[in-house]
Parts: sequence; C-alpha cells; structure tokens
Amino acid sequence: MSHASISDYTQAERISTTIYADADEACAHVAKAIGCLIRERNAAGKPTVLGLATGSTPVRLYRELIRMHREDRLSFLNVITFNLDEYYGLPGDHPESYRRFMQDQLFDHVDLKPENTHVPDGLVAREEVYASCQAYEEAIREAGGIDIQILGIGRTGHIGFNEPGSDATTRTRLVTLDSLTRRDAARDFLGEENVPRHAITMGVGTILDARKVYLLAWGEAKAPVIMQSVEGVQTDSIPASFLQQHSDCEFCLDAAAASHLTRARYPWLVGPVEWSPEMVRKSVVWLARKVEKPLLKLTDEDYAENGMADLLTEKGSAYNLNIELFNITQHTITGWPGGKPHADDSSRPERANPFPKRSLVLSPEPMDDVFCLGGTLHRLANQGHEVTVAYATSGNLAVPDPDARRAIELIMEIGQERSNQDDVGFAREVETQLDAKGQFGEDTKDIRHLKGLIRRGETRSSARLMGIESSQLRFLDLPFYEEGRYRRFKRTEADIAVMVKLLEELKPHQIFATGLGHDPLSVPAICFEVLRESLQQCVWGDWLKQCRIWLYRGPGAEWDTHEIDMAVPLSPDEFDYKIRGIYQHQTQRSQSPSTLRKSASDSWNLASQLNRTTAEIYDALGLPEYEAIEGFKQWNLKEDA
Ligand code: F6R
Repeated sequence: MSHASISDYTQAERISTTIYADADEACAHVAKAIGCLIRERNAAGKPTVLGLATGSTPVRLYRELIRMHREDRLSFLNVITFNLDEYYGLPGDHPESYRRFMQDQLFDHVDLKPENTHVPDGLVAREEVYASCQAYEEAIREAGGIDIQILGIGRTGHIGFNEPGSDATTRTRLVTLDSLTRRDAARDFLGEENVPRHAITMGVGTILDARKVYLLAWGEAKAPVIMQSVEGVQTDSIPASFLQQHSDCEFCLDAAAASHLTRARYPWLVGPVEWSPEMVRKSVVWLARKVEKPLLKLTDEDYAENGMADLLTEKGSAYNLNIELFNITQHTITGWPGGKPHADDSSRPERANPFPKRSLVLSPEPMDDVFCLGGTLHRLANQGHEVTVAYATSGNLAVPDPDARRAIELIMEIGQERSNQDDVGFAREVETQLDAKGQFGEDTKDIRHLKGLIRRGETRSSARLMGIESSQLRFLDLPFYEEGRYRRFKRTEADIAVMVKLLEELKPHQIFATGLGHDPLSVPAICFEVLRESLQQCVWGDWLKQCRIWLYRGPGAEWDTHEIDMAVPLSPDEFDYKIRGIYQHQTQRSQSPSTLRKSASDSWNLASQLNRTTAEIYDALGLPEYEAIEGFKQWNLKEDA
C-alpha cells in the first residue's frame, strides 16, 4: 500500500476506532487501561469509578481483570462500580439477572467491596421507579462521576438498554425493550416469551457524562450497526451514534465487527489500495452491484467514476477485467461439492481425486448442517462420498420444557404398557426435576440428557431426508457445552481431545465447518476454535496435508459473493428437500406467539431467503440463474498457523 496515512482510510469515521487481531487482544488493551487507572488512583488514595456492561461482549475483559487481580495483584478495594442496566422484574439471584451475571463473571472473583457495586434494582415497585432512578444518578455523582465506561452494543444500536428512540439527553429510567433485543435474549431465557419486556437503564446522557468510554464489539452480527454508529449521522434510531459527541470515546473491534466500515469494505474509495486478487474481486463485484450491470457489461467509465481508475490502468481495460472476473466467478460454481470424478478439475473448486472422498461436516449444533448446507449434503451423499456429519454439541439448551414433557409422557406410557419400571421410574424422576426447577431454573443433568436425546431424534430424521443414515452421524456432546450455558461457555483440553480423536479416526479429505468471524462466545465460534486447535494438534500426516477445509458462513448468514470459492447450486427439488429437512427440527420452531403469527416458520424463511439471494446475485452478475445457491469459502490451515 502506498502514500496513504491511516487518516485517509478512516476519513469516513466519526469516532476513534481501533481494529484488533481478536477480542482477546482488544480486551487486553482495555484491561490494561483500567488497570493503570486503578493503580494510579490507588497510589493517590483515591477511588476509581467504573461503568460496567453485561452480555457476551465484556466477558473476556472481566476474565482478564480477574487474571490481573490474581497474578498481577491488581486490587479493586478502592473501586466503585455502576452497571448500565437490569431487567425489570427479575430478582438479583435470577440466573439471567445482570446482578447475578456480574457476581458470576467478576464481582465474586476480585476484592471489590460488595457495598461498592451498584446494579439497578430490578424489583423496585412501579411507583418508586422514578425515585430509584434519580437515586442511581445521584449515587454516580456522589462517587465523583464515571471514570471509565465499558459498553457493548445491541443489534438495534442500543447502548445500555437505550433502544431506538432514546436521545442524547436521556437519563436513568425504566424502558421498554425492542422486539429484536428480546429475540436476541430468547436463548438465554429459553424462549422469547420469558424475556422481560422492560428494563432499567442508565440514559445516553448518563453514559456521555463518563470521562472515558470504550465500546467493545465482536463478530459480524454487529458489523452493520457499528458502521452506522461510526460513520452515519447522529440519530436516535441508532443511539450509539450519539457517542460521536463524546470527546474521549474509543471503539475497540475485531475484524468481523469492523467489516462494514468503509476502510474495510470499500478501501479503494478512501485511499490507494494494493490490488491483490481478493481486492480486485471484491471491488469489481461491488461495482457491478452498484451500477446494476452484469460483469461483462462494465465499462471503462464505470471503473473510472467509482474510484477504480488505477485498477483499470494496472489491468489495461474494462474488457480484460470483466472477463477475468467473470471466469473466476463462473469457476466457483459446481454441482459436485466433493469433486467430479474422471473430469478435468483444473478450474473446479474441488479436486476430482480421490473418489469417493471422506467428507466430514461439522455442525456446531443440530440443524446448523441442514440449515446451511442441506443441499450440499444431499449432493455429497448422492454422489457416493463417505459422508460423516458430526454434531459438536447436543443443542439440549435450546429445547423448550413442553417438548421435554411430551417425551416424558411418551416414555411413561410405553413403560406402563410394557410394565417396564425402569423407564417409568426415569420418566417420573425427570418430571419431578422439571417441576422443581420452575420456569427459569437451570436444567438438571437428567433433563439436559433427555433434551439432547430429543434433538438427536430430530437430527436423524432430518439427515435421512438428505440421504444420510444414522450410522453416518456422530454426536460429540462436547463438554464445554454440556457443562455450561449460553454466554458462559469455556472450552478446555477435553473438547479438543474429542475432536482430535474424531479427526485422526476419519482422516477426512474435506471438512465443512463454520464459526470463523462469529461472536467469540457463541457456540459456532467456540466449535471453530476447537477445530482449529485440534487440527494444529493432529499429527501433520498426509491426510491433513491434503485435507481441504470449506467454511460455510451461517447459521443465519451467507458469504458475500466475492468471498465464495465454491457455489453449490440447488435445484427446486433439492431446495424442497432442504426445507423439509429443516422442518424435522420441530423443537426449534419459535414458541413465541408473536413470531408464530408473523411467519409460519422463521427458519424456513431465513434459509430460503439467504440461498435465494445468493442465486439472485449470481444471476445479476450475468451468471446462470439458479433456484438457490449454498456458498463456501476455502480456509487454509497453513496460512492460519
Ligand atoms: C448490557 C447492555 C447491552 C449489551 C448489548 C450487547 O449491560 O447494556 O447494551 O451490551 O445488548 O449484548 P452482547 O454483548 O450480549 O452482544
């Protein structure tokens, strides 16, 4: 890259933004700043006031602070904390309350004085809410104001629980949660209907009063809202955009969360770029979409008028560029995801040999496989490859209680009919445990086991529709999931041992996996890390040298067209199979009356929409028109290492 300073690339940005290698590096930076301030204040005999957030985002930051307390003797005795928010109606000991979260994730592991920690009271009576919020503001003032405020960001653009509509003057108050926010919390609460409708939150104005603000964000799901906050106008429809007013605010992002910023998405618009093959592909596909022309109809003027004149000079003419890009995109398309035997494979994404291939599909949770690559699975099986689908986790946390009760009744009835006291006893025991835990209690081991079995059943019938037999399925039940809950998972060597064993046993020629670029605490991201570390631990034998790794983007997302190295088209019939396969996962259909009313099945709509959109884009670029396309990106383990 030549003659461009960082400010050229960040000219569109209205908030100081740093992109870190990953969430750990960003958290280390913020933890260091917090640690320095605490030490400085401790030495001066003064308190440090921290504003804290909950959710997945700051978990690694808190882990680092705990480490600094234990290993570097960082003392929190003089620290006062104020949390941003709390669900209204939840007692502090509720497993999903933010008070409980803070105790578990930070407070119980450092020497903070309990009386110095403040989280809004979720149980305050309605008529006392106003006074209680005023008192919260007063307590912050009395403590001397917030020195460092930590923020995450919701997909609605909320900071704290300041949902769209909250302006820069708002203070601590009772608010109504946005429906998208409630949907995002549905997993934690085992169903959207259990998510509280209201919360108490510091206001945007309260946040802006902090002397220093760090907003953290990881994973591609946050990318659109980060871009709007950093580069858009200040608006109450994206409350985080008001942080543009703050004189000392820093956004700390990983590459995935930063991926929609102009400097990452369209760098050629803000400075000179090195025209690597990836950059050329990205920019030309972008250009074709922008001017709404197929690749082969782009003109010299189109390139010149859209910041790509230097690329034109480098390549000679639009004609050359168009043909090059058309061929590259065309060669991503294949109906043979395992490679076409006895065919010239010089311009195909996957090798012809060996045939058949040992194909391993890794699905973080049951259903991710059919949802993201049901059509590809169907093809691999039909084309005679040795397919194994490995479900990394049981997915038992996502099974609603009524489904478990239905299974209990079935076991009980069969047991009674056959006078099998063991079955009846088991069913009664689990039923008692379900009754005892109530609506929000944690599932016992027995309940989780039963729920896991329910998902196995759904998975088998879904796989059968894809042409995959039960004997080809592996349920890994990785320990990090079985022993944890959402947002609090921690992978260990035990997880890696399970994965290494599977890889060494199967020695696959190709692996389909997902999770790169996801929120690091999400199940797909943890499973991807387990895979990455396991591959590094495998003996670097022939199989690994020849193994190709194909990443699918999902669940719930698809690669951008320029990122796709293998595009597997689905015929209308295959697409129907896929949708029927998704339908087999009955426990995963929304239980919430509001979503049920709006759409017959969220999953159905989402899967069809994503695969159809990819097909439409290929069509618009001037490539063949298909019903749907599943896209994959090749991942090079060696480069990664
Ligand atoms: C939590 C909070 C929220 C979260 C946001 C992101 O105290 O104030 O604004 O920071 O909803 O949540 P995660 O981190 O779970 O993606």
